[in-house]
Amino acid sequence: MKFFIDTANIEDIREANALGILAGVTTNPSLVAKEGVSFHERLREITDEVDGSVSAEVISEDAEGMIQEGKELAAIAPNITVKVPMTLEGLKAVKAFSDLNIKTNVTLVFSANQALLAARAGASFVSPFLGRLDDIGHNGVELIAQISEIFDRHAIDTEIIAASVRHPVHVTEAAYHGAHIATVPFKVFSQIVQHPLTDQGIEKFLNDWNKQK
Ligand code: E4P
Repeated sequence: MKFFIDTANIEDIREANALGILAGVTTNPSLVAKEGVSFHERLREITDEVDGSVSAEVISEDAEGMIQEGKELAAIAPNITVKVPMTLEGLKAVKAFSDLNIKTNVTLVFSANQALLAARAGASFVSPFLGRLDDIGHNGVELIAQISEIFDRHAIDTEIIAASVRHPVHVTEAAYHGAHIATVPFKVFSQIVQHPLTDQGIEKFLNDWNKQK
């Protein structure tokens, strides 16, 4: 499983990229709004920093508007992936982007059927949302397992991005159940790195080293 970072914050993106783990970035309108910057300008900064897929979401609700917006976003850099919501209009836009060889990430996926339709419309990626499903008492990780099984069984090459990742257990479970990618907020990367036994081990090694001097 590869890692994307789920943010529009350029400092977090640079820091994660410096770790050598970053295969891409996902943004959404809420994440961009939080930064208070020009969307296109921020996408230019991100695509200058990261070589992998950078998802940029359209906000139009009709296919025609999505296609227009998506073409403008895709013109920013060759690694832009147009993020499209899981609606009938969104699927029409995905088909159009697929004909234009523009990559798409179908977002707000909450069922295996939605993922299957998106894949058949030509989506490059589908994004099932783990945390938001867990929030309403469903099991987000089970959805990843289902989609993974269905895509394998039917030789579908659309990649599964585990999205709405809230904590390290989501990451392990997404990897275990077959997600190709997890898109992770920077905070979760920091949580994954930390372990009390690692900290204790470093402290002990340093203490022992200093004693011998
Ligand atoms: C990424 O593509 C999604 O937009 C994001 O992971 C949603 O996360 P949230 O449910 O924490 O807002």
